[in-house]
Amino acid sequence: MSAPSRLELDVAGRSHQIVVGEGLLDDLGAQVPLPLHARRALVVTQPPLVAHGHAPRVADALRTAGLDVRVHEVPDGEGAKAPDVLAGLWGVCADWPLGRDDLIVAVGGGVVGDLAGFLAATWMRGVALVQVPTTLLAMVDAAIGGKTGINLPQGKNLVGAFHQPLAVAADPAVLATLPERLRVEGAAEILKAGLLADATLVERLERDPDGVRRGDAGLLHALILRAAAIKVDVVGADEREAGERAHLNLGHTFGHVLETLTGYGTFLHGEAVAVGLVVALEVGVELGRTPRTLADRTRTCLAALGLPTAVPALERAAVHATMARDKKARDGVRMVLLDDIGRPVLAPVGAATLDTVLDRLAGDAR
Ligand SMILES: NC(=O)c1ccc[n+]([C@@H]2O[C@H](COP(=O)([O-])OP(=O)(O)OC[C@H]3O[C@@H](n4cnc5c(N)ncnc54)[C@H](O)[C@@H]3O)[C@@H](O)[C@H]2O)c1
Ligand SMILES: [Zn+2]
Repeated sequence: MSAPSRLELDVAGRSHQIVVGEGLLDDLGAQVPLPLHARRALVVTQPPLVAHGHAPRVADALRTAGLDVRVHEVPDGEGAKAPDVLAGLWGVCADWPLGRDDLIVAVGGGVVGDLAGFLAATWMRGVALVQVPTTLLAMVDAAIGGKTGINLPQGKNLVGAFHQPLAVAADPAVLATLPERLRVEGAAEILKAGLLADATLVERLERDPDGVRRGDAGLLHALILRAAAIKVDVVGADEREAGERAHLNLGHTFGHVLETLTGYGTFLHGEAVAVGLVVALEVGVELGRTPRTLADRTRTCLAALGLPTAVPALERAAVHATMARDKKARDGVRMVLLDDIGRPVLAPVGAATLDTVLDRLAGDAR
C-alpha cells in the first residue's frame, strides 16, 4: 500500500489519529497505535462486512499484531443500536473475558461505530476503541468526534456517551462494495463540510460527481481526508457542541424533520440532509444572507451526485411542530445558514420565512 494520510485530533488534552489509506485494513496493526498491554481484541461488525471480507481482514491484521481476536456479528441495520444487542455484547465481554487493557474494534458503518463505541465507553467503565468505518458517512462523520450511543423505542440516540477512539482507520477501497446509493448519501455530508469550510472541496465535488457515484478510490481518499479534517477542526475546538460544533448541523434541522415525518427509511440520512441543505440555503437567500448563486450551485451539485433536492409535500403544522421539538432548538427555531462558503451562522428563522421557502420549493420541484 502507498503511505496513508494522517490527521491529528486533540480533544480534552488527548490526541488521536485519523488515518486514511487504500489497503489500510490489511496493515492495521502497523498503521494505528494499539494499546500497549492489550492481549485481546473484540471486533464488532455486521454480516455484510464479513461477507465482503472486510471484517476478517481486520481480524487477521490484529492477529498478526499479536492479539487474540474474536469477531462478533450483530444484526444488520439501525435495529442493532438497541439495549438487548448491547447487553449481548456485554455478555460476550464478560464470558471471554475482555479486560480493562483490551481493545474493541468497530468494523462497519455508523451503526456499528455507535454501538461498539458505546460498548467501549461502558465496558469496565471504558476500554480502548479503534474505529474502522466502512461507509462514506461513517468515514467523514460518524466515526469522528467521539459520540457513541444506542436507540430506545422512544427515540434515536437517547442513551450514549462521549468516548474518543484511540484511532480511526478509513480505507477508501472498502467503499467499492458499498451500494452506490449509500456512497452518494455520504457525499451529502462531504458537500456540507465543504460549504462550512472549504470552497475547494465544493469545487472538487462539482467537478467529478460521477467519480463519487463510481467509487473512484483516489477521489474518495481526497474527499474523505478533507471532510474529516473539517470535522476534526470543529470537534477539536468544541467537543460538546456548545458553539461551533452546532454548525455541523447545517442541513440537519430540516433534514431531521424530513426523516421524522416521512418515517425513517424513506430518505436515507444523507438524502434528507441533501434536501435540508437546499432548504437552509433557500432560507438564507430569503433572509438576504445567502447569495442566490450559491444556493443554485448547491442544488445543481446535489442533483449531479444523484441526491434528492425536491421537498415532498408535508403538512405544514407537522413541520413546525417537529422543528420546535428538535433538541437543537433553543429559544425558537434556529437554523445554521450560510453567508457564503466558509461563513456559517446560527440564526433564528420565523415560521413565515420557512413557509415562503417551502412554498417556493414545492412550486419549482426539479
Ligand atoms: N456518532 C456520530 O457522531 C454519528 C454521526 C452521524 C451518524 N451517526 C449514526 O450512524 C448511523 C448510520 O450510519 P451509516 O449511514 O453508516 O449506516 P449503517 O451503519 O447502517 O450502514 C449501512 C449499510 O451498509 C452496510 N455496509 C457498511 N459498510 C459496507 C461496505 N463497505 N460494503 C458493503 N456494505 C457495507 C451495513 O452493513 C449496512 O447494511 C445512524 O445510526 C446514525 O445515528 C452517528
Ligand atoms: Zn448527518
